[in-house]
Amino acid sequence: MAGRPPAPGDGQPGLGDGRPALRDGRPGLGDGRPGLRDGRPGLGDGRPGLRDGRPGLRDRRPGLHSLTAGRGLLFGGDYNPEQWPEHVWAEDVELMRAAGVNLVTVGVFSWARVEPEPGARDFGWLDRVLDLLAGAGIAVDLATPTASPPPWLGHRHPGTLPVDESGHRLWYGARNQFCPSSPVYRERALALVADLAGRYAGHPALALWHVGNEYGQVCHCDVSAEAFRAWLRERHGDLDGLNEAWGTTFWSQRYGDWAEVIPPRRAPYLVNPTQRLDWARFCSDALLEHYRAERDVLRGHTPGVPITTNFMGLFKPVDSWRWAPEEDVVSNDWYPDPADPLFPVRAALTHDLTRSLGGGRPWLLLEQAASAVNWRPHNLPKPAGRLRLESLQAVARGADGSCYFQWRASRFGAERFHSAMLPHAGPDTRLHAEVRAHGAELRRLAEVAGQPVPTRVALVHDWPSWWAMEEAGRPSDRLSVTGQLLAYYRPLWERGVAVDLVPPSGDLSGYALTVVPNLYLVSDADAEALTAYVRGGGVLVVGPFSGVADPNGHIRTGRFPAPLRDVLGGSGEEWRPAPEDRPVRCAWADGTPFEARTWTELMRTEGAEPVAVFTEGELAGSPAMLRHRAGAGVAWYVATLPDHDALAELTGRALADAGVSGALPGPPPAGVEAVRRGPVLFLLNHGDREAHVPLAEPAEDLLTGARVEGGVTLAARAVVALRP
Ligand code: GLA
Repeated sequence: MAGRPPAPGDGQPGLGDGRPALRDGRPGLGDGRPGLRDGRPGLGDGRPGLRDGRPGLRDRRPGLHSLTAGRGLLFGGDYNPEQWPEHVWAEDVELMRAAGVNLVTVGVFSWARVEPEPGARDFGWLDRVLDLLAGAGIAVDLATPTASPPPWLGHRHPGTLPVDESGHRLWYGARNQFCPSSPVYRERALALVADLAGRYAGHPALALWHVGNEYGQVCHCDVSAEAFRAWLRERHGDLDGLNEAWGTTFWSQRYGDWAEVIPPRRAPYLVNPTQRLDWARFCSDALLEHYRAERDVLRGHTPGVPITTNFMGLFKPVDSWRWAPEEDVVSNDWYPDPADPLFPVRAALTHDLTRSLGGGRPWLLLEQAASAVNWRPHNLPKPAGRLRLESLQAVARGADGSCYFQWRASRFGAERFHSAMLPHAGPDTRLHAEVRAHGAELRRLAEVAGQPVPTRVALVHDWPSWWAMEEAGRPSDRLSVTGQLLAYYRPLWERGVAVDLVPPSGDLSGYALTVVPNLYLVSDADAEALTAYVRGGGVLVVGPFSGVADPNGHIRTGRFPAPLRDVLGGSGEEWRPAPEDRPVRCAWADGTPFEARTWTELMRTEGAEPVAVFTEGELAGSPAMLRHRAGAGVAWYVATLPDHDALAELTGRALADAGVSGALPGPPPAGVEAVRRGPVLFLLNHGDREAHVPLAEPAEDLLTGARVEGGVTLAARAVVALRP
């Protein structure tokens, strides 16, 4: 069911990188914060409480420094030697060394190889692979192979296989075919993980653990239903609590017995939205519980070896704010669509999210494509220069390593047409030459490892709010959370302003400006914190359809956004989706016109200045944007989807209110990304034309050793890393 690739900004609940939401049979829903009655993770939940982009002094978790010390930035990819005869391995390692590879991920899909039949263990081949790599000084990110159980597990224990919303079991023959709540799957997976950890604890190649792969599985089976009930008891107490939270007086949905409570399954019409919201929360948590179980086994054997699992950026099913504190190192897989004109902005947003999930600590780009992927309908290769440009973009935004899927292109299997660092055609190829050149230049950036990306702007993103906002039966499905996120992020990116993402419960005290593109669902406590932030001197920008629902997804009554009305100095009474065949005409207070689209709200001011108004139709004269001085700060509210130029203007004004500027004294030329990492200024030209950036101070380009004075001219797709 791999359909049209959704991406942030297109209104689809997708992966953010254009991957079809159901690519691995992973339903595109998910949600989740368990156990907390108000849905707030809070800062006491282990989330790194760092608001200045620097690792906390009290954070003693093992991190990437144990890998980068002596190695510099990490470079490598997934290595699947089980697909090749052993004589190829020696050539692999030799070519890896020549390419500057210093980290490979091994064993991700090796369950059937290490446990060919139930209870058997075949680690001999893996011993030889790890010994070979250790001998070459290449560190190993060793995976628990639990993302793809072998056919024998599904055959003997069909209950381990996932069931979809319609009650159909999904079969083996692909990957990801497990039910996160299956006790048999859990038991078999943990037994194997324990043996793997026991065997390789202390192995000189072992540098990092990689738990599972791209978690996102969902299962609607009866075992999952039982686990869901237990989760619901924890959250809502008893059936009265559940009935209240789910609003079951609507459509005769009252539950009188826990046995009646089920996951949202295929039904004749719209399913209860709170049932679906809690299900999304549960699904994320059920997977997290399994991740934790594997992690704890690993930790027991190797407490000093850092542990990660590879995220997929703005991936809807997994509430990454809840997951990230459970990892030592946050890592991400990122597959931008070469045909997407906004890819640099989307990439920057994703990288900033990954860095922020780790509280500002260095992160790892664990997978990207060396050129084309194989899972879009039409797979464009990366144009020359994009391999290094995309990799360096991640480094500029805090990655201490840049790795690929995969080292050597597979000859067989579903990914036989996916690009790799070493193509089918071999090392004597243009692509492999680019890989080698990039490996060499990363070595010249060694001093960047561990450096923070300082930020003064926070961008709020919340998974439960995302789930609740995009539930069926709303005013318009053309308002998308990731679309709004990208729209508000883009003008900041264009100005070279560094941004952290934060959850709504995050500590905002270190940020001069906080942007909330959409926060449909908000708890009282989070709304109060946003209000206090403004009164204490912060600048807040809030986008439309925010503050609408409580943590159960129930609409807050009264004029909207009810819990933010006072601080915003204005309120509304109607959400009014606009006809799509023409723009919505608006004007700034000085009469300068601009256009908006898709969405309008009937608002009035209650102390705020109407900085922009609608100029036609039934809303003519009513506010389109509000600005309100509240206490020592300023709050903005936007009641429509302004076009990009208008949003850029608004962003400029809010930045001025906050006294925040970008990495350069002015905005960089169009298409040029400017970001500071520690003392190093990265300038990346994503455009197809040469661009000139004036510089106040002389600097050295770490990538070439060249001295730069007065300014720098960047060819198309060129990058410089300037240190004063
Ligand atoms: C994901 C997976 C890899 C591989 C790549 C292909 O990132 O983790 O195993 O399937 O996609 O793009």
